[in-house]
Amino acid sequence: MSRPVTMALLGAGARGSTFSSFAEQFPERAQVVAVADPRTDRRDALADRLGVAQDRRFGDWRELAARQRLADAVIVATPDREHADPAIRCAGLGYHVLLEKPIAPTWAECAGVVDAVEQADVILAVCHVMRYTAYTEAVKQVVAAGRLGQIIGVEHLEPVGWWHFAHSYVRGNWRRADQSGPSLLTKCCHDLDWLRHVVGRPAVAVSSRGALHHFTAANRPSGAADRCLDCLVEPTCPYSATRLYLGFLDDPKRRQWPLSVVTTDLTERGVRRALRDGPYGRCVYACDNDVTDHQVVTIEFDGGVTATLTMSAFTPHGRRRTRIMGSRGFLEGDGRQATVTDFVTGKAEPVTLDGAGQTAAGGGHGGGDFGVIGAFADAVASGDRSLIRTGPRESLDSHRMAFAAERSRLTGLRVELSEQRSAAG
Ligand SMILES: NC(=O)c1ccc[n+]([C@@H]2O[C@H](COP(=O)([O-])OP(=O)(O)OC[C@H]3O[C@@H](n4cnc5c(N)ncnc54)[C@H](O)[C@@H]3O)[C@@H](O)[C@H]2O)c1
Repeated sequence: MSRPVTMALLGAGARGSTFSSFAEQFPERAQVVAVADPRTDRRDALADRLGVAQDRRFGDWRELAARQRLADAVIVATPDREHADPAIRCAGLGYHVLLEKPIAPTWAECAGVVDAVEQADVILAVCHVMRYTAYTEAVKQVVAAGRLGQIIGVEHLEPVGWWHFAHSYVRGNWRRADQSGPSLLTKCCHDLDWLRHVVGRPAVAVSSRGALHHFTAANRPSGAADRCLDCLVEPTCPYSATRLYLGFLDDPKRRQWPLSVVTTDLTERGVRRALRDGPYGRCVYACDNDVTDHQVVTIEFDGGVTATLTMSAFTPHGRRRTRIMGSRGFLEGDGRQATVTDFVTGKAEPVTLDGAGQTAAGGGHGGGDFGVIGAFADAVASGDRSLIRTGPRESLDSHRMAFAAERSRLTGLRVELSEQRSAAG
């Protein structure tokens, strides 16, 4: 294909905007030719920026999908519960599909998406962005080259962070399992996918423990009000929305996220109004949240390698931490840099990151955002599906691990992955 891959964007929110930036920076590789979003302000702002024609702007992905195919591919960047239907419908129309994670909130829908893309014979790339970073490539190379010897175990922490958890998983869009899925799926399907990739073997069983420990009415301090703006104990509360969001006004990075999710009026007056009326001003002990705030998963991989994954709200907001234990060496990494301790020399040495160009290519997630859309655009242009680092069945496998872990958490039982294949989710 000698022209850029044309894409229709479904969902002009934070992620849609990130992927649009790729098309702006690399117009020879991708062009956004249609945008669908019920929020006219977001849709038109993005469509104006990208030069999308008026008759290619839609109020819902369904309106776009009611027409004949008008691009090579779709980017599905709608909320989690609006992933499966547009992916399945658009695959049926012959669009290749770049799909935000999770594939869908339920196992049955996830399997339905993968069946649909296989039946339509279109390319599916699930946005497992961590696979597309220079850091991941380097860690994978260390393991694959045998520098650590036989891999015995992995310890992996996803430190969600106290305020990020309160923002997204207590007050925000990912607070309820019935709306977006369990937090292990929405936050950590990436991590499960990453662990599987680095270990290089399929998982055979998972066990998990965890709960919604803290953000419940039972932990509400006496004197707390339903909204932080009215609350007497707000000054000493770690989760004060007033302190958090007003504090972000002076921080350019935090204005972009998460403040722009709270309000489009990024002034003190605008933020106060949003905290008075909107979901992000609510007391964390008086929300309708139900997802787990601390969870541990033990994964048994084929061949006996074990890994533990801890997802926790009760940390500083930071990069994932990983320790890989091998018979000849030990790797410790933080999502950006890693060191290997060699057991022969006893010395710890930094791991050299190749792919620096990819990270410099931009987007968030250490270059993974642009990495995934770039690989997808190139795969569509060339027909080379091997450019997608996690194919449909492998992505489904990673999601299977999350659903199985949730089942284990709820039943207290170890779950064999073969059982999950037939479970309804
Ligand atoms: N890969 C990652 O690392 C990563 C990171 C963050 C979010 N996500 C996922 O990306 C997706 C989008 O997240 P976001 O933060 O951009 O959310 P967002 O709320 O900022 O954007 C979603 C957009 O979809 C629009 N929308 C809702 N219903 C629609 C419909 N019927 N038709 C068209 N548009 C519709 C909304 O109006 C909104 O503008 C979510 O599934 C989220 O879980 C992935």
